[in-house]
Amino acid sequence: MAKRNIVKRGEDVLTKKCREVTVFDDKLWTLLDDMYETMKSANGVGLAAPQVGILRRVVVVDVGDANGKIELVNPVVVSMKGKQCELEGCLSVPDLWGYVVRPSKVKVKAFDRYGKEFQIEGEKLLAVALCHEIDHLNGIMFTDIAEELLTGSELEERKKGR
Ligand code: CO
Repeated sequence: MAKRNIVKRGEDVLTKKCREVTVFDDKLWTLLDDMYETMKSANGVGLAAPQVGILRRVVVVDVGDANGKIELVNPVVVSMKGKQCELEGCLSVPDLWGYVVRPSKVKVKAFDRYGKEFQIEGEKLLAVALCHEIDHLNGIMFTDIAEELLTGSELEERKKGR
């Protein structure tokens, strides 16, 4: 495994629509392993392939719950329920946080690293992470859809005020 560089907001690769994975080979496995290591070492809960410069529909998520590491290849949201608005950040946007409206529950269909289809359901933070990462595959950043964006110092002020 190797850590890869995380692409930052402003770079074209983050605004492009990613292509589907068609070959489930060792190149894909290396990408998944590298993405997980990169995400973990940056203390993230999710990472999408375009964030390491790869325009493929590949996502890793680990929100620290019982699911542990989740690898999603060609993920598709098949249903959503409810609404939540939580604070989000992104490893590609180190200086901004924002409140984003998301479904409170989602069901996602995807393939694992061997090409086997599975479904996963997530609520609360996992629902947020799944939606946030799948958005990346369509070139959508949380900063594009946030209700409100805050800088680090604005966020500190906000927390003190509460
Ligand atoms: Co992100």
